[in-house]
Amino acid sequence: MPGRIEWVRSQTRLLRRTAEEFAETRPFAGMTIGTGIHLEPKTASLLLTLQAGGAGLVCTGNLNSTQPETVAYLGERGVEVIASQTQDLEEHEKNLRAVLAQRPQLLLDNGGDLFALYLTDPYSGLLGGTEETTSGRARLLPLRDRLRVPILVINDSPIKQFAENEHAVGQSVLESYLRITNRMTNGQRVTVFGYGACGSGVAENFRAAGSLVSVVEVDPVKRLQALLDGYDTPSREVATSSADVIITVTGARTVIGADDLLLLKDGAILANAGHFPFEIDVPGIRSSGEIRRETRYDDGIQAYELRDGRTVYVLTDGHMVNLAGPRPLGNSIESMDLGFTLQARCLEAVARGLVDTEQCVVPVPPEIDRRVAQAYLDLQYPLAQPGSRSTITTRAHDASR
Ligand SMILES: NC(=O)c1ccc[n+]([C@@H]2O[C@H](COP(=O)([O-])OP(=O)(O)OC[C@H]3O[C@@H](n4cnc5c(N)ncnc54)[C@H](O)[C@@H]3O)[C@@H](O)[C@H]2O)c1
Repeated sequence: MPGRIEWVRSQTRLLRRTAEEFAETRPFAGMTIGTGIHLEPKTASLLLTLQAGGAGLVCTGNLNSTQPETVAYLGERGVEVIASQTQDLEEHEKNLRAVLAQRPQLLLDNGGDLFALYLTDPYSGLLGGTEETTSGRARLLPLRDRLRVPILVINDSPIKQFAENEHAVGQSVLESYLRITNRMTNGQRVTVFGYGACGSGVAENFRAAGSLVSVVEVDPVKRLQALLDGYDTPSREVATSSADVIITVTGARTVIGADDLLLLKDGAILANAGHFPFEIDVPGIRSSGEIRRETRYDDGIQAYELRDGRTVYVLTDGHMVNLAGPRPLGNSIESMDLGFTLQARCLEAVARGLVDTEQCVVPVPPEIDRRVAQAYLDLQYPLAQPGSRSTITTRAHDASR
């Protein structure tokens, strides 16, 4: 019976079409692409698309998100995977170094790990690559003068911003919260830290699920935006002490930490959706002296009983809640199909030498955005064949205008 990876591959329609084209055009023939991105079914579809374009692949994952089924699936298809489901920074770095030891010409990075480590032991022949995230861009920007290769930041594409960060992250964080906790969202006070593209989607999805949502933002412009979008934006202290659920999604360090333990309500649930696991300072909380007992429940729920009798819960140890925990699904297939097709097209542009070295840590070129958007629209509105269902759909659509 085909498994979930096959289902995901069947639904990543843009990537499938791109793979068909790449099989003809072979933009990566003779090249190796090193990747450091979550190893889960949608990534498998991206990696096999690059392989169809002639690339040799050497891949590792990110902290705590590697899915063994995906590793096995890729291995059976000739992809070299050096990864384990680990939370250990040293082991993660060892895997990244093993990828770089093969001197890939192109790097597909997620969080800036590969490019930052490349600088500690540079090699000749690196053409450039891509970086997926906001957090990676922030890490790589100060390194531009030393990197001096084309690096296109997928996160800065408007398509990635609205399709994934805004619409998909919010939806998958809500889905993960429900799956892990099995708790009601209606009437719950939910505080979202950060009102960027991801945070606004998280806030919107919890509001749609009947929660009373507050937003905490350090940027007054974003805070105003949240207020005018209809959220309560009280002080950090009020929002923290009244919350039943707190979700961090900022990219910043120690957004919630040991100092907040005194504020938290009995039973408060903390979860992080930002890229790095340090937004909730779990080590700081554990070593604060306020903790009387820890209990690890199944499915990624950790309970911390405080000395005064209150208990607070942390989901998936503060790792990205939508990519950790039991049977994590991550962001919706369509949103990732779009983002990963941007990845494939950007790597193609770098491989073909169409991006110059000045374009180091810069947004996706607008012509690639337009091409990917048009390709998705073409799938939604296929050219009508006489008598086909799509003709009927198109006519009905026209008639309704
Ligand atoms: N979970 C996922 O699937 C997923 C997907 C995409 C991005 N991300 C990650 O989510 C994080 C946020 O991404 P984004 O695109 O929304 O970023 P963004 O930069 O658009 O927004 C982050 C917001 O957080 C605010 N902020 C910073 N520190 C804060 C603090 N201490 N308290 C309150 N607000 C604070 C900033 O002012 C900013 O408005 C990043 O780490 C990104 O890599 C996660």
